[in-house]
Amino acid sequence: MCELLQRSIGYYDWVGFYFANHQKQTLHLKAFAGEPTDHVTIPFGKGICGQVAVSNENFVVPDVKAQDNYIACSMFVKAEIVIPLFKNGKNIGQIDIDSHTSDPFSHEDEKFLEWVNEAVANIIPEDGIDF
Ligand code: SME
Repeated sequence: MCELLQRSIGYYDWVGFYFANHQKQTLHLKAFAGEPTDHVTIPFGKGICGQVAVSNENFVVPDVKAQDNYIACSMFVKAEIVIPLFKNGKNIGQIDIDSHTSDPFSHEDEKFLEWVNEAVANIIPEDGIDF
């Protein structure tokens, strides 16, 4: 899924899925396409990803330089979108996409990625993914 999205959409430069460990309050990178990142574990509340783990809401960042609570993965990244992934109403993870293009993400991307996350949620086992 990560590779398909990264290959198909020009401004999706890095695509990854983080999943939550609710006991430890951490996110864990489970799958990605693009350059490897050091940020394979992110505490809830830290960065754009960590904020979405807590808010349960989509987070579209047109300009990463304008964000205080942001974890930089690459100097080329200009924008980011993070969409929470729900299974049975619980926020169990998220899809995270970085772009080297400024302000590329629209409402269409949000709707599309919500749909992708629903499809992914359907193939995740009922007892979820543990870390
Ligand atoms: N930029 C993210 C960290 C993950 S990397 O984009 C792969 C953040 O601020 O949470």
